[in-house]
Amino acid sequence: MDGNGRWAKKRGFDRSSGHVAGVESVRKVITAASEAGVRYLTLYAFSTENWNRPQAEVDALIHLIAVSLEKETPGMVTNNVRLNVIGDMARLPRESIESLERSLAATASSTGLQVNLALSYSSRWEIVEATRRIAADVAAGRISPDAIDESLFSSCLTTAGIPDPDLLIRTGGDSRVSNFLLWQIAYSELYFTPIYWPDFTGDHFLQAIADYQHRERRFGLTSEQLEDDKPTDK
Ligand code: FPP
Repeated sequence: MDGNGRWAKKRGFDRSSGHVAGVESVRKVITAASEAGVRYLTLYAFSTENWNRPQAEVDALIHLIAVSLEKETPGMVTNNVRLNVIGDMARLPRESIESLERSLAATASSTGLQVNLALSYSSRWEIVEATRRIAADVAAGRISPDAIDESLFSSCLTTAGIPDPDLLIRTGGDSRVSNFLLWQIAYSELYFTPIYWPDFTGDHFLQAIADYQHRERRFGLTSEQLEDDKPTDK
């Protein structure tokens, strides 16, 4: 969700008002995803690197995220949306953790769209954490090094149990991934748009999905192999 700061600067506002406007786009995209039958939507709301922004912006952003989520929670419950948080929650202020925990608990039994909020998250952080856990298990003799495979490694990431993303959308005009789900997006389709996040609507989200639907995902195979594997009516 990039481009909040530039959206605000273009209008002569301070950066925080870009984040406030960005909350509206979060609501629009969650609604569009839910209506389109998307099962998982992961939103990169605050990165590990974002902790290094000016303290006032960090405080405002964390507060905004927690307060907005709490405000949106009844709507999420009504629309059967389940909230999940990935990231180093322990770094957040206690009030924000408590607020997030209330939203997590309230939406826990929803069975529709799962929104994974990446908060205080970075991919390198989670890969290091997973490696540390696996190394400790090996050192303690709980698992053998031979038992380490892609499936075990995936199960030690914050996204354990969540399918890898089919589509990654980055708004704001930059064509890079910036420490987001690096392991998980090995075969994801990437979609970059110049639109700043506060201008991104549900229709833009559906356009990205329509673009995705025209991609051929080969997963290392050839087009011919994919054709051969296609189910037929016969
Ligand atoms: C990146 O734009 C955006 C963020 C660091 C924050 C994203 C957070 C929100 C949109 C609020 C989310 C709220 C909920 C409820 C999940 P930037 O500040 O890096 O923009 P710039 O690249 O233009 O400076």
